[in-house]
Amino acid sequence: MKKLSVVLVTSALLLAVAGTTYATPEEDQATLKGLFMKKFKDVEESAYGDGAYVFREDAYEQFKEIEADFPPYEDQITEGEEMWNTAFANGKTYKDCLGEVDTVRAQYPKYDEENDTILTLEGQINACRTENGEKPLKWKKGPMASLSGYIADQAEGQKIDVKIPNEKAEEWYEKGKNFFYAKRGQLNMSCADCHVAYAGNRIRAEILSPAFGQVTHFPTYRAKWGQLGTLHRRYGGCNQQVRAKDFKAQSDEFKALEYFHTAMSNGLEWTGPAFRK
Ligand code: HEC
Repeated sequence: MKKLSVVLVTSALLLAVAGTTYATPEEDQATLKGLFMKKFKDVEESAYGDGAYVFREDAYEQFKEIEADFPPYEDQITEGEEMWNTAFANGKTYKDCLGEVDTVRAQYPKYDEENDTILTLEGQINACRTENGEKPLKWKKGPMASLSGYIADQAEGQKIDVKIPNEKAEEWYEKGKNFFYAKRGQLNMSCADCHVAYAGNRIRAEILSPAFGQVTHFPTYRAKWGQLGTLHRRYGGCNQQVRAKDFKAQSDEFKALEYFHTAMSNGLEWTGPAFRK
């Protein structure tokens, strides 16, 4: 009897292992990237941060002109720089919490072992403020996006290198991955439906960007917003498109999503802020 149950348990375990298609983050990225590289042979790997523009020559040219000649987010970068250089009421500055400005962007998102959570750039900006007795900023736009935009701008040329250091971090990664592939909302669509399966296709007036490279350039200036918006603002918007339950900016769900989503762009350069239609 005892033997039989051992056999049963063992085979159940084997089945469980065989049944889960566990892949490492590196394997996940290679699969995702490989899919796009195979499908869109003309698109250079380094261009993926330019999103849907890579699929339309005329719009791509216009985008490059806007970026080179009159980036509409320049005032906000200047505002962000002033914020960075202005001391809090207690005399401390952002640099005292976050370090040299050009080292900040590339550190996040990061797994925080002590608190078993994911640290994000915007989360760290507000943590610095509250530790120093200042009010937190609103997460999605305004001064938060200006400061995050200035910090992103200072990281030009650096590469995305999200690390998944241990099993606890892997749980956050898996949570984000599940979020990305789960069908949701009244339209019953996943992020992957639009940004993997249908990437490069048109939906209403827009061409869908590929998931690889999707986070490189945040905060982005959208013509529709008329200002910079953070990555979690975009997550919220895409979630609404499928009429799904809304998650708050900096919720555990969106932090996990950012962790997975950014790891999928490892190796690409940080290019924020950028213009989007
Ligand atoms: C019904 C289709 C649809 C779904 C589902 C969807 N999106 Fe989008 N998403 C869009 C469209 C349309 C745009 C604007 C065109 C573009 O850049 O892809 C967009 C843009 C984005 C962008 C900005 C791309 C850039 O280059 O700046 C990000 C990031 C993004 N989506 C993430 C997500 C995530 C994460 C999910 C899942 C929570 C998701 N989207 C679900 C349609 C969708």
